[in-house]
Amino acid sequence: MTDNTPMERVLTLEIVRACEQAAIAAADWIGRGDNKAADAAAVEAMRNAFNKIDMDGTVVIGEGERDEAPMLYIGEKVGTGKGEAIDIALDPLEGTTITAKGSTDALAVVAFARKGNLLNAPDTYMEKIAVGPGLPEGIIDLDKTSAENAQAIADAKGVDIKDITCCVLDRPRHSQIIDDLRAAGCRVKLIPDGDVAGAMQSAMPGTGVDFYMGTGGAPEGVLAAAGLRCLGGQFQGRLVFRNDDERARAAKWGITDLNRKYNRDDLASGDVIFAATGVTNGVWVRGVEKSEFGGLRTETLVMRSHTKTIRRIATDHSAE
Ligand code: FBP
Repeated sequence: MTDNTPMERVLTLEIVRACEQAAIAAADWIGRGDNKAADAAAVEAMRNAFNKIDMDGTVVIGEGERDEAPMLYIGEKVGTGKGEAIDIALDPLEGTTITAKGSTDALAVVAFARKGNLLNAPDTYMEKIAVGPGLPEGIIDLDKTSAENAQAIADAKGVDIKDITCCVLDRPRHSQIIDDLRAAGCRVKLIPDGDVAGAMQSAMPGTGVDFYMGTGGAPEGVLAAAGLRCLGGQFQGRLVFRNDDERARAAKWGITDLNRKYNRDDLASGDVIFAATGVTNGVWVRGVEKSEFGGLRTETLVMRSHTKTIRRIATDHSAE
């Protein structure tokens, strides 16, 4: 992918197709209580779609390592092998539990960049903080408390901290973050799962969320950073290791500084294309639904960092 090649333009639509296929496959499983079946259906559909694309693709953020993921594992080659060398971060179903429970904000999500531009993050946790565009560079910092970050954002926006909302994954591990925010007067929006969608709410108009903070999956962190690179927001992440196995995973991907704070562009750089199709209805993208044409309708947000184009593609898929 060079900056404005026809290849890039073709890829944008191909990525949309892959996300659409994964979302449609997962949607069959909405509300059926089976996370694994929903995920497997999305993975298979996305892989089939990728393998029709003329590219020399490598999965760098995927379903896990080869021995634990039969498809779309880290290092798997996808595409026909004919085009440019592309690194791919993917989550065919971000929000498996959301889908199984028929709740909101499950996505099929993918980011593409030229080789070497997406961090090969291990499948560990990551502390994350995200904020939307238009604020001074460096305004958010993982080394500050949640209340300090909220106050800095309030000051920069020229509002009272009472008018700031932070999105946080609803987990016991976040009780300190939540208590500090509430004690400072900040509102907290708790989400049950799906922190790619959650982090990106901080940069999406109309969500009411000013920033995102908390610990979630590291792969989801790279995807959120890619999305925020396209939207112009800021992101910071720091890997969290629970045991030696996780530290060994990091070493395998060449990560030596285990305490490093990664900024957005350390996780996703160069010309990034990001796409997300709604599986269930979400705050910033609709889920799969019946189309008036008799088949299914999907909605996909696809964005490109180089041009800052944000497209919303609604597609009616034939019932056949
Ligand atoms: P799945 O799609 O694998 O169910 O992940 C959903 C998710 O909520 C992510 O968005 C988030 O990063 C991670 O799980 C949080 O992990 P945990 O559920 O262990 O707190």
